Amino acid sequence: LSLKCTNLRAEVVELEGIPLTQPIYSTWDQVWKFKARPDDLLIATYAKAGTTWTQEIVDMIQQNGDVEKCRRDTTYRRHPFLEWSVLEPSELRYSGLELAEAMPSPRTIKTHLPVQLVPPSFWEQKCKIIYVARNAKDNLVSYYHFHRMNKELPDPGTWEEFMEKFMTGKVLWGSWYDHVKGWWKEKDKHRILYLFYEDMKENPKKEIQKILKFLEKDVTQEVLNKILHNTSFEIMKENPMTNYTMEFQGVMDHSISPFMRKGAVGDWKNHFTVAQNKKFDDDYKKKMADTSLVFRTEL
Ligand code: A3P
Repeated sequence: LSLKCTNLRAEVVELEGIPLTQPIYSTWDQVWKFKARPDDLLIATYAKAGTTWTQEIVDMIQQNGDVEKCRRDTTYRRHPFLEWSVLEPSELRYSGLELAEAMPSPRTIKTHLPVQLVPPSFWEQKCKIIYVARNAKDNLVSYYHFHRMNKELPDPGTWEEFMEKFMTGKVLWGSWYDHVKGWWKEKDKHRILYLFYEDMKENPKKEIQKILKFLEKDVTQEVLNKILHNTSFEIMKENPMTNYTMEFQGVMDHSISPFMRKGAVGDWKNHFTVAQNKKFDDDYKKKMADTSLVFRTEL
């Protein structure tokens, strides 16, 4: 089993300076030519920023709070993961492109692509996009544990080593700093709703209402409360359709670290040493000097 798992570890290739997996790289021409439809909704994030959570909120809204409908399939299959493809082994085969192309409208599509790599048709079709950003420290911690448990991703190395890779952008989907800044810069030029994980934690009702408004949807107070309840960390952790336990057997090892790990703001404090924190902060200030973006690392 350990041999099989080692073989799954992704080979990383750079595309325009962005580290991606080999299958993404080899299907890139098709990803770039993807035909978005005007009523597509794109959920874009840096990996581990709260994608699954946002996907569940959006689906609950689209299904008008019907829990059974939301349980029609896993998150991974309800919302095609645009650029993601797994070719082998065959039982894990997945093509975000094929899934999207076969899906009737209106579609909700997930991506981790930095803004400059989003297929042009999304801009041409003026699709709505929800972008969710999470503070760098918690995002890094979550990404580290995800690499430990998900054998489809490169081996993270030690915490110290992974932190270094994160700071230098040598991780899948590239630099967190460039990702959040890049999307922030584009947000007012397009139909982009830019949300923060920390705001969602602090006041989920308020953020759900922002999403409702953005999607031009109205729900009753009762439905709103149902959405709130069913998209809470505690419920999603136990929901097999959202907690990633139904797929990826032999790939994700939830005993190493569950997909629904902590769902908190400020867990970075349990990981950073004082020296690491200082180094990270000094570097952060430099990398984020050219943006008006402000993150909260605690609530
Ligand atoms: P942690 O590893 O910090 O727990 P993504 O979906 O982008 O991969 O992000 C996964 C992160 O979002 C994980 O963070 C996960 O626990 C957290 N998450 C998932 N659902 C959540 C929810 N309903 N509320 C809060 N956090 C949630």
